[in-house]
Amino acid sequence: MVELVKVSKVYPPDIMALQDVSLSVQRGEMIFLTGMSGAGKTTLLKLICSLETSDKGHVEVAGHDLNRIKPVVLQRLRQKIGVAYQDFRLLPQQSVYQNVAMAMEVAYLPPSFIRKRVESLLDQLGIADKVDKLAGKISRGEQQRVAIARAAANSPNLLLADEPTGNLDATITKRVVALLESLNQAGTTLIIATHDQSIYRHTNHRVIHMEQGRLTEPAVAR
Ligand SMILES: Nc1ncnc2c1ncn2[C@@H]1O[C@H](COP(=O)(O)OP(=O)(O)OP(=O)(O)O)[C@@H](O)[C@H]1O
Ligand SMILES: [Mg+2]
Repeated sequence: MVELVKVSKVYPPDIMALQDVSLSVQRGEMIFLTGMSGAGKTTLLKLICSLETSDKGHVEVAGHDLNRIKPVVLQRLRQKIGVAYQDFRLLPQQSVYQNVAMAMEVAYLPPSFIRKRVESLLDQLGIADKVDKLAGKISRGEQQRVAIARAAANSPNLLLADEPTGNLDATITKRVVALLESLNQAGTTLIIATHDQSIYRHTNHRVIHMEQGRLTEPAVAR
């Protein structure tokens, strides 16, 4: 699903955010990407969803070389990638419902299906009562869950979650992890960037560690 070969990324003027990173994530895998603040986790996710481009190396997603992909093909590919951003990127003046429904409306899914899906996701994440609130007028922890619901809504082939539990207490964290696990069971490939040891300490999934823009564990698929 994701193949990175010797990828480097420099932010101007000279910040080496990623150095020679090679990583292969198989279809159906769920992996955790860990490491200290500034290690390069978000940058790696941004390259995979094509929000940033690499300076060196090869980034391939679902068989597409992202350095050569045509805009129209990229657009289609991105519809199948859900991203829960570290800074959420919600539309603050739109309702929680609208924020989550958006990706499905773009894909022309039937309105009754969309409503059920949104309600089910919000319910699983414990924010069903916020459905009609403006996204800008709810707490950070609630916004975080809206971002996760939005990323998951369209049953993406690939879901990238950047610090999905950063603002959540232990009980809600468990709900989020349960949702991510269930998406993975249903076939979604997941890459989760996190500081939160509680969500990967006892996991059976692969844990990849980053330090100063490099992977520090062998990153081959099991
Ligand atoms: N837009 C940017 N412009 C310049 N430098 C950046 C930019 N984004 C990130 N960086 C730098 O690149 C490096 C990697 O940052 P990145 O956000 O990928 O780390 P991270 O592992 O996600 O950190 P955190 O755990 O704090 O979210 C850091 O040194 C950071 O300061
Ligand atoms: Mg980050």
